[in-house]
Parts: sequence; C-alpha cells; structure tokens
Amino acid sequence: MTAVTDSPARDVDPVQVHVPLGERAYDILVGRGLLAGAGQRIAALGARAAAVVTDDTVAALYAGPLDAALRGAGLRVSLVSVAPGEGSKSFGDLERVCDGILAARIERGDLVVALGGGVVGDLAGFAAAIVRRGLRFVQIPTTLLAQVDSSVGGKTGINSRHGKNLVGAFHQPSLVLADTAVLDTLPAREFRAGFAEVVKYGLIADAPFFDWCLEHWPEIQAGGPARDHAVAQSCRAKAKVVVADEREDGERALLNLGHTFGHAIERQVAYDSRRLVHGEGVAIGMALAFRFSAQLGLCSPEVAASVGTRLEALGMPTELACVPGGAGTPDELLAAMYQDKKVAGGELTFILARGIGQSFVAKGVPADNVRTFLEAESRGRSIRGG
Ligand code: NAD
Ligand code: GLY
Repeated sequence: MTAVTDSPARDVDPVQVHVPLGERAYDILVGRGLLAGAGQRIAALGARAAAVVTDDTVAALYAGPLDAALRGAGLRVSLVSVAPGEGSKSFGDLERVCDGILAARIERGDLVVALGGGVVGDLAGFAAAIVRRGLRFVQIPTTLLAQVDSSVGGKTGINSRHGKNLVGAFHQPSLVLADTAVLDTLPAREFRAGFAEVVKYGLIADAPFFDWCLEHWPEIQAGGPARDHAVAQSCRAKAKVVVADEREDGERALLNLGHTFGHAIERQVAYDSRRLVHGEGVAIGMALAFRFSAQLGLCSPEVAASVGTRLEALGMPTELACVPGGAGTPDELLAAMYQDKKVAGGELTFILARGIGQSFVAKGVPADNVRTFLEAESRGRSIRGG
C-alpha cells in the first residue's frame, strides 16, 4: 500500500494530502482562500467546461467568486442549484442535476464541480458517476462535515424512502479543494455538527487527536492554523482508511462509528434538519456506541461515560432524549437499522469500542441485545457510570 503523504503546494500555501488510489489518485488541498485560485487548479485538470452544482444558500455566498475564478481561467461555466437540505438527496433532484449537466453540454473531458456541503457533494458526485456513464468531478466542500468527511473517499448517492444513502456509487473526485475560510459563514450549529465527524477520527483510532480536538475547540471555531490542522488531520485519517479499503469490504466500515444508531435516528425524524442534522445524529450515535460497548462488557462504563461527558462539553447531543419530538421507539429504531448498508445475512453490524481510539467492526450483533439497550436508553437508564 502506498503511504498517504503531505507536501506544501502553491498560492495560499495549502496543506496537500495525497490519496494514492492508483489511476483514481487525487489531492486534497486544505487552506484559507483556496476558492480564489480554484479556476487555475481546475483548468489544470484539462477541462474546457465546468458544471457547478450547488445549493441556493451556498450559491448566494460563493457561486459568484467561483464563477469568476473559473471564467478567469478560461473555462465555460454553468450552474445548477438545488434547495438546501437533506431533502435534495432525492430522485427528483438527481434528475434535475443530470439534466442540467447534459443541457450544459458537459463532455467526458469536462468536469462537474460540487460546491457545497455533504448534500451537494453526494448528489453532484452521484450525477457525475452516472451522466455519460461517468464524468470527472471536483469537490469544493463548504461545510466542516464535508471538508473532513464527505468530500473525501468517493461515496456518492441519494436517499430512498427505505433509508439514507441507499442508492449511489463509488466515484472518486479528481481534486478536493477545502477552503477553510468559507467555514466562517457556516451557522454555529452546522459547524458543531461537523465537528462530531472530526472527533470521530479520534474515537476510532487516535486518542491523542481526540484530546487535541477538545483542547483546541475554541481556536478551531475561530479559524486559523488549528482549524486547518483539524481539517487536514481528519483528511489524512480518512484517506488512510479509504486507501486500505476503497469499497468498504472491511476496515472502511470503521468510519461509520455512531452511524448505525445515527442513521436510524435521522430516518425517525424524516431527515428534518430543524430536529436533527446528520452530525448531531452521529454525535448521539457515537455516545450510544460507547455505552452499548460498555453494556456488552467491551469497554469500561467510566470510559463510555467520559466520552458522553466530553461530547456534551462540546455542546453536542448525546442522548435519544435530545431529539426534539422524540427519536422513535426501540422497535422503530431497530427496524430502521435493518436497512443499514452494513447488514449482512440479515444480521446487524456495529462499530464498537474497547476504549477511546480502539474501535472495531462487530458483525452479527444480536437484535435482542440492541433492543434491550435501546429500551434502557429510552428510559434514560443505560450505563452512565463514572
Ligand atoms: P448540508 O450539505 O445540508 O449543509 C448544511 C447547511 O449548511 C445547508 O443548509 C447549506 O446550505 C449550508 N451551508 C453549506 N456551506 C455553507 C457555508 N459555507 N456558509 C453558510 N451555509 C452553508 O449538510 P452537511 O452536514 O454538509 O452534509 C450532510 C450530508 O453529508 C448527509 O447527507 C450525509 O449523509 C452526507 N455524508 C456523506 C459522506 C460521504 O462519505 N459521502 C460522509 C458523511 C456525510
Ligand atoms: N463516511 C463514511 C465513509 O466514507 O466511508
């Protein structure tokens, strides 16, 4: 396996994280002010035209500067914008985006550019994967969550009425430009939710990084070297896992720490962002995964309790009871979990932990154990120790 490497790059001197995936290899550039130089970097990929896919909120903030940067580099530019929010990861919006790309006569040598959060990245990436049987695409992630997770690794897709991300494709971007300055306009709630995916890397396999995240949270919010480090370090962690297991045959499932619970809760609230956004579901899910691990005797109740307390200290939700209007009954949550992509042979898979930074993939977890745990959580009476 080729190592994930860093080296300084041009212009605003971003950090460069290389994702060595053979003919699908690409760079992730992280730094403040990258949007202004996006035109040259994208033109250098050899395209003559770019279809920018975004959402209406991001369009109002950043479509103008990106358009100017792309045109300034000699590219023909078109724009397709969808409504903000999870509801746009739908068949209807996929059709609209595909039609927009085709109407703009984007050819195989051209590019789709995803400018936005994880919703836009997943939707635009999937459209790029299927239009003309595959177009190249560039990710310009504008949320913290998208910069540290969804823009890297090539998972693209939309939701089905049966559950989240159930229709999609693996399609790696050709370049990721993470301009950390655009996070200055992100609402505080979205920034905090995205930070759940940052601390996730610490909880999975890097206890010192988890500690660092807690210690540097105020500087990361303020923006500056700590923010850039948090994004770059997260990208390195994700790239390492993706390079080892691009199509999630094994180890990549670790990146789903907290997601089996989180996705089920998101489904229960019908993906209504007024009640819950994805990162909040992940935060609750990670706290639940540690308490579930403690209930199964895999990690100590003290460690599980301390993870919950430390996530709460970051202002993150950690309980089913935190979901406005309720997170659903244990049976409803369990039914939703059976649509999880990690279900194998009708059996549930969870990411569990022996401690902070010691997560592992647990297959064949008995449904009765999950139900008992969720019943206790619903009554607010599972392990809280420590
Ligand atoms: P999002 O894309 O809905 O963005 C959140 C909100 O922030 C939106 O209203 C958006 O308009 C707004 N916004 C975006 N950038 C902004 C900016 N710079 N300033 C102001 N407002 C801005 O949500 P998200 O949290 O970025 O992504 C969640 C999605 O990502 C989910 O659908 C999830 O399934 C997906 N995801 C995918 C992967 C993957 O590997 N493909 C990984 C994690 C999450
Ligand atoms: N966000 C999980 C993954 O990319 O595999």
